[in-house]
Amino acid sequence: MRITIAEIKEKKQRQEKIPMLTAYDYATAKIADEAGIPLILVGDSLGMVVLGYESTIPVTMEEMLHHTRAVVRATKHALVIGDMPFMTYHTAISDTLHNAARFIQQGGAQAVKLEGGEVVAETVRRIVNCGIPVMGHIGLTPQSIHQLSGFKVQGKTPEAAARLLRDARALEEAGAFAIVLESVPAPLAKLITQRISIPTIGIGAGPDCDGQVQVISDLLGLFTDFVPRHAKQYVKLAEIIKNAITDYITEVKEGTFPTIKHSYSIDESLLQELAAS
Ligand code: KIV
Repeated sequence: MRITIAEIKEKKQRQEKIPMLTAYDYATAKIADEAGIPLILVGDSLGMVVLGYESTIPVTMEEMLHHTRAVVRATKHALVIGDMPFMTYHTAISDTLHNAARFIQQGGAQAVKLEGGEVVAETVRRIVNCGIPVMGHIGLTPQSIHQLSGFKVQGKTPEAAARLLRDARALEEAGAFAIVLESVPAPLAKLITQRISIPTIGIGAGPDCDGQVQVISDLLGLFTDFVPRHAKQYVKLAEIIKNAITDYITEVKEGTFPTIKHSYSIDESLLQELAAS
């Protein structure tokens, strides 16, 4: 059985921390699910860590749906959230609802996430009213990277901090079931977490959020182009993979791979007959 939205919300009441990870493909999502991660975000960070784009801005609905389906196929327990790409929830409301519905109907996700606070609150309300759970995302919102002039910590001035608190409240009011707080000073994230009734999920927002999210490629040390300060590499998979591939190249060149153990046999007499023909 998959974890439900109600169970995620109850975790905040019980003060039980909520771990969340991104995933983009069948193999890693399966491992994360088996390890017991309750929330999996098919993040539009896909664009950078899997597809090699410079930002999340080029990511399309089709790319997101393709990867969401793979993650959903791999998972039995985690609640899967599809990240709505840039400009797929800012134009006509009918397009927004259509795009959100595609994540659920065609992607098989159980919820969607979108970036923004007060300005998208009405959009969140409309999606929730259709029966689609929505996770908010405020603070550093990578789809607005040009407007924000780079990947910077948000909420550092009194006005910006007050705006973030208003954003969080507006999303809660609109019916969001949780909110990602990205790159926000830890004391501000703590205050927001105390002031709203839905879970906050932090990334670069300190230890006092109700949950934490990490990009799986950062956590596994798989993506090395850029390692954010808030990322913790629990393993350096890029190095391990590189060493394995180097060993393979060497063994193929030396003729030490494959061995008989990795080969298939055939009846010897059949081979003799063939050789004689
Ligand atoms: O796309 C993503 O991976 C995200 C997380 C960083 C929250 O939005």
